[in-house]
Order: sequence, then C-alpha cells, then structure tokens
Amino acid sequence: MNDFDKASWDEHYRHPGHDHHGHGRPHPQLVAAASTLTPGSALDSGCGEGADALWLAEQGWRVTAVDISTTALARARTRPGADRVEWVEADLAAWAPDAAYDLVSSQFVHVPEGGYDSYYRALAGAVAPGGTLLVAGHGAGGHDHSGTAQPAFDPAAVISVLDPHGWEALASEEGDAVVLRALRLR
Ligand SMILES: C[S@@+](CC[C@H](N)C(=O)[O-])C[C@H]1O[C@@H](n2cnc3c(N)ncnc32)[C@H](O)[C@@H]1O
Repeated sequence: MNDFDKASWDEHYRHPGHDHHGHGRPHPQLVAAASTLTPGSALDSGCGEGADALWLAEQGWRVTAVDISTTALARARTRPGADRVEWVEADLAAWAPDAAYDLVSSQFVHVPEGGYDSYYRALAGAVAPGGTLLVAGHGAGGHDHSGTAQPAFDPAAVISVLDPHGWEALASEEGDAVVLRALRLR
C-alpha cells in the first residue's frame, strides 16, 4: 500500500470532516474563479467530501464530481444538496472524462509519482473551448494527510501540457495555495 491508494484514502475519510479545510466549505480560490464565470457544466476532479462540488451546484453549475474514495463519496452523498451533483467513483489515473466541461477544477489532488503529465492532459482535455481549468496545490511546506512533506505544486507542470496557442494561463499564490487558472481559447 502507498500513501495515495484507495485504501489509504478510504481510511483517511473514515472520520467526518476530513476535507481540506475540515469545515465543509469550498476553497476560496474556487469561489473566486467560479464567481467570475457564468454557471455551466463543471467537473470536480478528486472531490473528496464534496464541499466544492456542492457549492458549485448551489451556484447553478451542473456538476460531476469524481473521487477514488468510497467513504468520501458516501459522506458527500449524504450532504444537503447532494442529489444535485453526479458523483462518480473512479481512479483518476485510469479515468478519462467522456464529456467537455465549462469548468474543470482539481484542488489538492496528489497523483502517484510520474502520473502528473497524463493527469493534467486528461484534465485539460476535459475543458470545453472557452472553458476554464483551475488547478490548485500546496505551496512550499505542504504536507499530505499522513504528515509527509510534499513538493510544492508547480503550475509550470500544467502549463507544459497545454498547447501554448490554445490557452491563456495565469499562475498565482492565493493564501496557502498555488493556483493555476487557464482559459481554453479553442
Ligand atoms: C487532499 S484530498 C483533496 C480533496 C478535495 N479536492 C479538497 O481539496 O478538499 C485529495 C483527493 O483526491 C482523491 N484521490 C487521490 N488519488 C486519486 C485517484 N487516483 N483517483 C481519484 N481520486 C483520487 C482522494 O481520495 C482525495 O479525496
């Protein structure tokens, strides 16, 4: 077993309130980005207990939320408003979205070593023309759920898989998050 497999995440979520902030609130960088957009279809990749997905649905987005953890999704499904979200249990290392979304969000998702290129390509491929890709990760000094230090999220890793003529990308630091926001031009 490694730190990022299904069993580890299921164990992590066995007790309530283990989403990133532990308060069931959406991430501020998601709120900031989505608040500038007209609600359409959204994909929350690695949704955990679903705070972001539920918030998006409340704002009028049609949301698909994907996670590997059965326990995280089971808890998400019991939360108020959960019936407005399509919850999908899948391994992001193997799963490819079969639709294009106006917003694709990935918040603090750790991918096994070597898997980032294909993960970011799959996310980018899921964004509709004119849509937005939002990826956030920990800045320097972040830890995973087992307390192991994690390398800072590097937006350049996402940018490197994007067609430079097809996207406008902007990286920023927002609180304790490093954020990449990219607009798909075509
Ligand atoms: C640090 S949590 C972040 C959860 C949520 N996005 C948030 O920010 O609160 C990472 C999430 O990614 C999910 N995850 C990790 N590896 C995955 C994989 N291979 N496929 C699908 N989900 C995965 C975990 O189950 C967990 O819910």
